[in-house]
Amino acid sequence: MKRPTKYTTSASLYDVISFEWPVYRAGREAAFELLNLPAGSHVLDLGCGTGLNFAGLQRMIGTTGSITGVDASPQMLEQARRRADRAGWTNVTLIATDATAMTSADLGEQAPFDAALSTYALSLMTPWRTALDAMIAATRVGGVVAVVDMQRPVGRAAVWTPLAKLACRLGGSDIEAHPWTAMTPLLQDLSTRAVRGGHIQVRVGTVSPRLAERNP
Ligand SMILES: C[S@@+](CC[C@H](N)C(=O)[O-])C[C@H]1O[C@@H](n2cnc3c(N)ncnc32)[C@H](O)[C@@H]1O
Repeated sequence: MKRPTKYTTSASLYDVISFEWPVYRAGREAAFELLNLPAGSHVLDLGCGTGLNFAGLQRMIGTTGSITGVDASPQMLEQARRRADRAGWTNVTLIATDATAMTSADLGEQAPFDAALSTYALSLMTPWRTALDAMIAATRVGGVVAVVDMQRPVGRAAVWTPLAKLACRLGGSDIEAHPWTAMTPLLQDLSTRAVRGGHIQVRVGTVSPRLAERNP
C-alpha cells in the first residue's frame, strides 16, 4: 500500500497544527450544510485523517447511521479511533487502504453509501482522479458526493497566496490539483461554495442513474 509520508509521526499533532479553527473548519461546515444528510445515512469519509469530520457528520446521521473512514495512514486512523472511542460513537468503521487503489469490495458492508465526502485529501493523492472515481462508484444512485479542497485565494484575498501555498506544501497537497473540477460532468445538481477568500472550494453533487449505467 502507498503510504503518505507526511501523516505518520505528525498524526498526534495534526489537529493542533492544521489551522483547523482559523481556516479549514469553515470548509467542512459549508459541506455539511450542503450535504444536509438525513438521519440514518451511511457515509464514506475518504482520507478521513484523525476524524475531524466525524462530529459534524454524527450531528446529522445519528445513531442509526454510520461512518466508514478510509485512510492510508494507520497513525491517522489511530487518532480517529481514539476520537470515536472518546465520544462513544460505535457506528464508526475505519479502514486502512490506499484510496487510489481501492474498490467497493474493500469498503465493508455499508457500501454502496448514501453519501461520500473527502475533505482536504484528494489533492494529496496521486492520481486523485482514480480516488474520486472510486468514491463516486462507492455511492448509490441518488446518493451525494462532497469534495472540499484548496486552491490559491482569489481577489483581494490573493495577498494570502504565499501563506496558502506554504500550508499546502507543508501538508503535502498540490494547490493546483483542483479535484472538484472533475465533478461537473460526473454528478448532477452540483452545489458550489467558496470560503476563506476562495482558498477553500466546496462541491456537492448527486450520483445520477446515467453515471451508474456507465459504471455498473
Ligand atoms: C490533510 S489530511 C486531511 C484529513 C481529513 N480529511 C481532514 O479533513 O482533516 C490528508 C489525509 O489524506 C490521507 N491520504 C493521503 N493520500 C492518501 C491515499 N492515497 N489514500 C488514502 N488516504 C490518503 C493522509 O493520510 C491524511 O490523513
